[in-house]
Amino acid sequence: WREDYLTILVLGASGDLAQKKTYPSLINLYAWKLLPKNVQIIGLARSEMTNEELRNRLKPHLVEKNGHSKETIDDFLNLCTYQSAPSYGDKETFKSIAKNMEEFEKRTPANRLFYFAIPPSVFSETALAIKETCMQDKEKGWSRLIVEKPFGKDLQTFEELNQTLSEHFSEENLYRIDHYLGKELVQNLLILRFSNVWFERVWNTDSIQCVILTFKESIGIEGRGGYFDEYGIIRDIFQNHLLQVLALLAMEPPTMADGPDAGTFIRDAKVKVLRSIKPLTLDDVILGQYDGYAENSTITNKDSKTATFAALRLFINTPRWHNVPIIMKAGKALNEGKAEMRIQFKDAPAGQFIFQGQACPRNELVMRMQPKEAIYMKTNVKSPGFTSTPIQSELEVNYDSRFEANCNPDAYTRLILDVIRGRHSAFVRDDELRYAWEIFTPLLHEIERSGVTPIVYKQGSRGPPEADDFIEKKAGYIRNKDYKF
Ligand code: BG6
Repeated sequence: WREDYLTILVLGASGDLAQKKTYPSLINLYAWKLLPKNVQIIGLARSEMTNEELRNRLKPHLVEKNGHSKETIDDFLNLCTYQSAPSYGDKETFKSIAKNMEEFEKRTPANRLFYFAIPPSVFSETALAIKETCMQDKEKGWSRLIVEKPFGKDLQTFEELNQTLSEHFSEENLYRIDHYLGKELVQNLLILRFSNVWFERVWNTDSIQCVILTFKESIGIEGRGGYFDEYGIIRDIFQNHLLQVLALLAMEPPTMADGPDAGTFIRDAKVKVLRSIKPLTLDDVILGQYDGYAENSTITNKDSKTATFAALRLFINTPRWHNVPIIMKAGKALNEGKAEMRIQFKDAPAGQFIFQGQACPRNELVMRMQPKEAIYMKTNVKSPGFTSTPIQSELEVNYDSRFEANCNPDAYTRLILDVIRGRHSAFVRDDELRYAWEIFTPLLHEIERSGVTPIVYKQGSRGPPEADDFIEKKAGYIRNKDYKF
C-alpha cells in the first residue's frame, strides 16, 4: 500500500476544524509513514489564498505535541496545496481538481479521500459536485468521504441530511466521525470487557448500582457562540459522544470484533443498545447555564436559554441493564476538564454483616478518557497498621507510567487511518444516528416548546449544586467526598 496513490481533499481547509484537527492528524500519519508515499493533500475553501498562505496558516498547528522536526513539517507542507472556490457546489472548480488528480495518479490503486470539514448547510451541494466530477472509477481505487457532526438538529433534520448524502454515496463510502470513538479508553472497552474474566461477570444489574458518564470542560464556549447557542450541550455532547461511549460500554459481545465484518457486527450490537433506550422527557434531566454565558460577543440572543450543562438519567431496557440508572453529565466552564466512565457497584453485603455495620465504601471502576488516561478500580483494603477498618484504595493502570509515551496517538489521527484502511467499526452508521435522535428529539422539542430556564451556575464550579442531588436521588449514587486519588 505504500506504493498506492492517494489524494486527500480537505473541504473547509481555512476553517478551525481543518487547521486544528485534520492537518495535524495528517502530518502525524505522514511522519509515522502511515500514508502512501504518493500522496497529495489539496485544501479547498471559499477564501482566496495562495499555497504559501495556507502553509503559513497551518504551520503553528503542526509543531506542538508530537514534536515533528522542521524538516518533516516542511516536507509535509510541500504536499499541501490550496484551491479556492466561489462556492462549495462549483462544478468547474471540482472538474479542475479531478483533472489534477488524474494527472497525479500514475498507477493504480489510486484512491481519493474527501474530508468534509464544512458546515452541514453546504454538504448537499458539495456532495453533488463531488459525485458528478471527482469519484474514482471503482476499478482504479476507492473514494471515501469523512463527514463531521452536526448530523442534523433532530430526527427530522437528520433524515433530510442523511437523504442528501445517501442519494449520492453508499454507506460503504461514508465515514461519519465521532472523535470520542477514536479515544484510547473508548477503543479499549471491547478488550477490557470481553477479554478479562472478572469484568464480564459483574457487568450487569446484579452487581452494578449505576453508571455515570462525565464530560467536563473548564473552558466556556469561547468564539463558538454562533454554533453553540443554536445547538446547546445536549446536541453537542450527549446525543453523540456520550451516547456512543454508552453504546460500547453497554452492548452485548459482538459476533466478531476483528476482520472484515467487524464494522457490521460492532455497530449491530450498539444499535441494539440504542433501541432499548426509551425517549427522554423533561423529568429525566436537569439543565444549567454558566453565569455570563450570553455576554459572550459571539452570542446574539442576550436572553439565550441554551444549556451549557446538563445531567440526565436514562435506563437501558435489556436483561443485563434492568433497573440500572445511567447518568450522563456534561458541562462547560466547570472546575476542571475531564472525561470519564464510572461504574459504581452495589454495597458489598459483608459491610452489613461481618464488619458489623462499619462503612464499606462502594467499589467503583473508573475509566478516565482524559486527561491522563487511566483505569482504576476503587477497592477496599484494611487500613494499614493497627486498625482494621476498610479504607478505599485502588487497583490501577496508569497509561503514562505503564506504556511508552508515544503509543497513544490522538483520536483524529487514528480515525483517519481507519478510513484509509477501510475500517468502519469506529464510525457512526446511519441507523445508529437515527435511534440516537429518537432518544433525544422529544426531550429537545419539549425543552424548546416549554422554554425551560436553565439553572445559572458559577463559572469554574462543579455545575449547579442541584445536579449532585439529582444524581444521588435518581441513581442512588454515593459520592465518597473523602476519597482522593
Ligand atoms: C466537540 C464539541 O465535538 O468536542 C466541543 O463540539 C467539545 O464543544 C469537544 O469541546 C471536546 O472534545 P475533546 O476531545 O477535547 O474532549
